[in-house]
Amino acid sequence: MNNEKNNESLESGSPLRGRRGQRVLITGAAGFLGSHLCDRFIKEGYHVIGMDNLITGDLKNIEHLFKQKEFEFYHHDVSKFIHVPGPLDYILHFASPASPIDYLKIPIQTLKVGSLGTHNCLGLALAKKARILVASTSEVYGDPLVHPQNEEYWGNVNPVGPRGVYDEAKRFQEAMTMAYHTFHGVETRIIRIFNTYGPRMRLNDGRALPAFIGQALRGEDLTVFGDGSQTRSFCYVDDLIEGIYRLLLSDYAQPVNVGNPDEISLKDFAEEIIKLTGTAQKIVYKELPKDDPKQRQPDITKAKAILNWQPKVSRAEGLKITYEYFKNLPKEELHKLPKEFESRK
Ligand SMILES: NC(=O)c1ccc[n+]([C@@H]2O[C@H](COP(=O)([O-])OP(=O)(O)OC[C@H]3O[C@@H](n4cnc5c(N)ncnc54)[C@H](O)[C@@H]3O)[C@@H](O)[C@H]2O)c1
Repeated sequence: MNNEKNNESLESGSPLRGRRGQRVLITGAAGFLGSHLCDRFIKEGYHVIGMDNLITGDLKNIEHLFKQKEFEFYHHDVSKFIHVPGPLDYILHFASPASPIDYLKIPIQTLKVGSLGTHNCLGLALAKKARILVASTSEVYGDPLVHPQNEEYWGNVNPVGPRGVYDEAKRFQEAMTMAYHTFHGVETRIIRIFNTYGPRMRLNDGRALPAFIGQALRGEDLTVFGDGSQTRSFCYVDDLIEGIYRLLLSDYAQPVNVGNPDEISLKDFAEEIIKLTGTAQKIVYKELPKDDPKQRQPDITKAKAILNWQPKVSRAEGLKITYEYFKNLPKEELHKLPKEFESRK
């Protein structure tokens, strides 16, 4: 392994950084994480090809990149055959609905993009001799019986529960990626992303953080599901993007957790948001959704050892930046209903 070498060079501005002319395909480019990845790779000097069918994403997230000659965009569904002209050095497969409110409404597309979409991206990587990184998730651990979750834990997932469409698609994605690695020798990387937050999340995507901030901004009470003792750990988006970048340039093919181990109960988190926003509202409690994970905390020993990575942005700092972003959105965004989807195939 030459990971140490990679990490050293990452810090000292190596030839691995910003190799001009290197071409990167980013699927899910118009989404929350995909758009931040596009920004990062453009900043590093790569030529970025963004691809998205805009099912949950928004062109607003990347419109600032359209004037850059090193950026191009394909409006395409990656569950269908993918054609990209010219060479490709890297593929980052981030296309997939990611919040429960989305994947519960479009379960079949979620299964398709994790399975067929991943297969198409892997086939493209093989054809182009590109290295591919796939976005997996802490959801592969399901409602975990091991705490914190390390990469050796195989998870506790209900395949036929409501979240099964997302969790099992991602588990299939990992299996398919590993098969392309062992059978075809494709250079693959698997990142297991834990809850990430930051600017460009959608206020109405149903996840706890934007939901709480949205409620505070609208002057509504903050809804906590269950008794609020369930825990989450939130990673600021810049930290995650750094972890992704490092994993891509490492030579480690097994899954790596990337997230912030700073764990907090949802009740305490709601109280933090009340303090941050200065809202006069209170917390109200509602019934816990089925299969909601009780605990979530990444064990990041591997990321520290292999990528020399750990989160740097504290929750207080990250929340301040994110709150500023949400506060400055046009007023109509505050009252926008969750996305509706035309096709359910
Ligand atoms: N945000 C997190 O905390 C988190 C945690 C774990 C894993 N992930 C993974 O990271 C990736 C991005 O998540 P996000 O939070 O940015 O979600 P997002 O919904 O903001 O972005 C997903 C993007 O993928 C696009 N997309 C979906 N299906 C597609 C298809 N068939 N063809 C082309 N484009 C398609 C959407 O339009 C959207 O722009 C997902 O794969 C998700 O599973 C995210």
